Amino acid sequence: MTSSTLNKTIVGIIFGGANSEHEVSCASASGVFANLDRERFEPVLIRISRDGLWQRVESIDDPATGGELLPDLSDLDIVLPVLHGRFGEDGTVQGLFELVGVPYVGCGVLSSALAMDKLMTQRVLSAAGLPTIPTRGVSDRTRHTASAVADELGYPVFVKPNRAGSSVGASRVDSPAELDAALDLALASDSIALLQPVVVAEEIDLGVLQEIDGELSIGAPLHILSDDGRAFFDYASKYTAGGHEFEVPARLSDELRATLESFAITAFRALDCEGLARVDFFLSADGTVAINEVNTLPGMTALSQYPTIWEAAGVGYRELITRLIDRGLAARSAGSRSAGSRSTDARPAQAR
Ligand SMILES: Nc1ncnc2c1ncn2[C@@H]1O[C@H](COP(=O)(O)OP(=O)(O)O)[C@@H](O)[C@H]1O
Ligand SMILES: [Mg+2]
Repeated sequence: MTSSTLNKTIVGIIFGGANSEHEVSCASASGVFANLDRERFEPVLIRISRDGLWQRVESIDDPATGGELLPDLSDLDIVLPVLHGRFGEDGTVQGLFELVGVPYVGCGVLSSALAMDKLMTQRVLSAAGLPTIPTRGVSDRTRHTASAVADELGYPVFVKPNRAGSSVGASRVDSPAELDAALDLALASDSIALLQPVVVAEEIDLGVLQEIDGELSIGAPLHILSDDGRAFFDYASKYTAGGHEFEVPARLSDELRATLESFAITAFRALDCEGLARVDFFLSADGTVAINEVNTLPGMTALSQYPTIWEAAGVGYRELITRLIDRGLAARSAGSRSAGSRSTDARPAQAR
């Protein structure tokens, strides 16, 4: 089966992954697989097991076991990584694609690695003049300083792993007695735990999509209405039916919407993103805006924010996937991977 005999683009959908977001990735991949335009694309499902072994499978929940350490990707026209978290969204898999020379959808090595690392993201965004949240990091070695750091920030504090996702390892700490357990939890997911003041805010997500010619489009702003009983947008609220609701488009003034859009574009460019990103904001009652994080491979289940953001902007899930793949192919043929998407900096930012 070759692309010439089928006259279709062979797309490797890579999912699973050796991290805490394995299941979320499988759910995202189901959405992508179901929405791949079969007129143009031929899917090949490739699963990475929790042990990091790569295997071609017939379906997302194929019970097959085994696999290999290094995959043969040579028959694929392009790969679409539908992976979240470490060893997927963090540049490592993107590095493998670069090494073997297979085109891929989305952010490259640098932007993936930067955006996965919340501390590094903040440094880059702050240097670009964007508002972020005061953040301090502690490791096992410097953990003894955490209680002084928390006192300095003032309770309640928010504790979360530097490199993780889906709210795994995150907790709100209301008093010094709870700090140790929160640090244990965060440090179980990464070597660095972050401490931040608890920001009482609305969460607004913006989706950035890069068009074939490199221009950036922004979807409808999405407001997350978390279940009132929860302290924050935790794993259960994210993935339990009824755990949250989205208001999309979020009711924002034109001025605020324009500000968030320009921040999202600046963040995308500052981190050298490519293809897509979801930029997540905290919006406090006094009007203060801060970027919480940037996701380079945002959740892609049919109910996830990124497809919802595009649906509301008139781009259905199927078209979204097609556009992502077409941009990945175009970026590769234009050589913009090796040149870096910073080459698009010269163009004026275009919000839609
Ligand atoms: N400083 C903070 N103050 C209040 N809530 C926070 C803070 N940081 C994170 N949260 C809550 O925790 C959730 C997960 O944190 P986030 O930084 O987005 O990590 P993840 O990569 O796991 O999504 C956020 O969506 C938000 O609800
Ligand atoms: Mg988040």
